[in-house]
Amino acid sequence: MRGWEELYPLPVPPSWVPGAAVGILSLHFIQKLLFPYFWADLRYLLKVLTYGLRMEMYRLQGRVVTVLDEFVKLAEKQPHKAFLIYEGTVHTYRDVDRRSNRIAQVFLQHEALKKGDTVALLMGNEPDFIHVWFGLAKLGCVVAFLNFNVRFRSLLHCVSSCEPKILVVGADLLGTLEEILPKLQKDVSVWIMAKDSTFPNVHTLLDKIEAASEDPVPVNRCSATNLKSAVLYIFTSGTTGLPKAAVISHLQILKGAAGLWAFGATSDDIIYITLPLYHSAASLLGIGGCIHLGATCVLKKKFSASQFWGDCRRYNVTVIQYIGELCRYLCNQPVKEGEKNHKVRLAIGNGVRNDVWREFLERFGAVKICEFYGATEGNICFMNHTGKIGSVGRTNFFYKLFFPFDLIKYDFQKDEPIRNKHGWCEKVKKGEAGLLISKVNAKNPFFGYAGNKRHTEKKLLCEVFKKGDLYFNTGDLMVQDHDNFLYFWDRIGDTFRWKGENVATTEVSDVIVMLDFIQEANVYGVSVPDHEGKAGMASLILKHNASLDLEQMYKQVVTYLPSYACPLFLRVQEKMEMTGTFKQQKFRLVDEGFNPATITDPLYFLDNSKKAYVMLTKELHEMILSGKIKL
Ligand SMILES: *[C@@H]1O[C@H](CO)[C@@H](O)[C@H](O)[C@H]1NC(C)=O
Ligand SMILES: *[C@@H]1O[C@H](CO)[C@@H](O)[C@H](O)[C@H]1NC(C)=O
Ligand SMILES: *[C@@H]1O[C@H](CO)[C@@H](O)[C@H](O)[C@H]1NC(C)=O
Repeated sequence: MRGWEELYPLPVPPSWVPGAAVGILSLHFIQKLLFPYFWADLRYLLKVLTYGLRMEMYRLQGRVVTVLDEFVKLAEKQPHKAFLIYEGTVHTYRDVDRRSNRIAQVFLQHEALKKGDTVALLMGNEPDFIHVWFGLAKLGCVVAFLNFNVRFRSLLHCVSSCEPKILVVGADLLGTLEEILPKLQKDVSVWIMAKDSTFPNVHTLLDKIEAASEDPVPVNRCSATNLKSAVLYIFTSGTTGLPKAAVISHLQILKGAAGLWAFGATSDDIIYITLPLYHSAASLLGIGGCIHLGATCVLKKKFSASQFWGDCRRYNVTVIQYIGELCRYLCNQPVKEGEKNHKVRLAIGNGVRNDVWREFLERFGAVKICEFYGATEGNICFMNHTGKIGSVGRTNFFYKLFFPFDLIKYDFQKDEPIRNKHGWCEKVKKGEAGLLISKVNAKNPFFGYAGNKRHTEKKLLCEVFKKGDLYFNTGDLMVQDHDNFLYFWDRIGDTFRWKGENVATTEVSDVIVMLDFIQEANVYGVSVPDHEGKAGMASLILKHNASLDLEQMYKQVVTYLPSYACPLFLRVQEKMEMTGTFKQQKFRLVDEGFNPATITDPLYFLDNSKKAYVMLTKELHEMILSGKIKL
């Protein structure tokens, strides 16, 4: 096993000959040549271990120290330090602590919330997102972050799946609220971030915050007793079906919060967060990470490529968070003078493609790019701690001891892991793509999803290599090269990523089959050159004698789906292909893509400039490939 050699120093020369110096020098070179990642691995491993040790200490002492506890402590220690900067306004640690106290007091007074009750939060990026989150956490509530792009039925599904007592809605999302309000369960009490309301039976929060006391709520309300209890629900699509609420425990928040620190950020850093807070990247890694460091973060309502570097300069930003698309949008901006003139030294995120990674470094200077991999609900993560372009991280013997994982063979046709004749899964060879699975045990628990137990069970694989073992199925295919670097390959199952969001194919097809001329819809993602993720495509079977109404189709998808989930391509087929197990066949469709030169079925393209689906001609296809048409 390679890992051993890497972490064991080479043998020391047997005697103290005068050539010792030369020996040591050559040792250094041998080490560089043969084990180039030794120090990087060691440093990273030590960091992971010291952090793990600290948590273990807390556990032994019976102390439960959460990230929120850390925050409250910081608010005493450095009350005047900026915690959040939003649209030019500074919110100090004390400000945020006090406003979140006020919110806790309002709910304490007006609602009979018990410890462990769920509150759903539908809000864009703004300081009050954090105030409400912290305030409710101080009451010991579980906060569910809703994706504000999701609407109608899907949003109702999300709300009901976590069974909240209360729904808090941002002032700019009242339109979305209006759509679901009549169908919302009667026992959900709705609060809006406004001073007055025209909705019946909806409470207003802003006026009450102003009137509330800023004193902390009683300690016994918020003090956590178990690191493994649920504190947040974050919606992910898993690999199947509608969005599911992943259960996030204190433990996962603590782990997430250590991310920036593990990558080398410090309390002097200023972190720029442009990703939506309802995702774990921005909330756990970004906000949590900022607290762990005692640093400052600059929060942006919505990512803007044209304002990005200006903001970085204005606020002296030193650390940015990215997803692959964000880097590409920045690279696509017209070149300006002095683009390297900024203080950003670290970029932390995932999904940047190699070519974009190189271009980004060339254009914007020596920013250290730190890729990581980790599913919100997953129990494993990787970090590129050595700086290999394109890799999400590296593993070695010791890492695998602490975070046991494997890459197993996968059958693309059947869409399931391959089992050999004895019923066991098999590991792939180095250099081959395999499904990433990580062992579930007491040290690496999987907390599952809220509500339906079936979803949780679906994410687990049992009897993988031996009787009684249990693995978390990440749904991601990875490749491990001969130097043990890991590369993201593809995502399997019924979801794909587009514009940094997960799209659940069943959610899209459910919306399409509501149309009366559609018999069946099979939704999948297709690769488009120079784009991260997969663009949505729907293969349709029309009802007998019906014709495709493109106008209605367009109206249907833009009304009921978030923009990133609207299928960009349509394909009309005579009959649906099924797999041997009567699942819709996607593999071949994905492979065939959207090229009108090779596909004889009628193809259509969602032309955003025309606000319509149009026939996908060869010319149009060319323009999409060459990037003349922006997707
Ligand atoms: C940014 O840094 C410069 C120089 O260190 C300093 O003069 C300026 O006040 C800083 N700006 C902000 C917003 O902190
Ligand atoms: C990740 O890879 C990049 C690109 O080579 C490198 O610059 C960076 O240092 C790496 N990250 C870390 C944390 O070492
Ligand atoms: C379909 O169209 C054919 C010919 O136009 C007609 O004879 C038939 O009754 C129609 N079937 C249905 C189900 O409408």
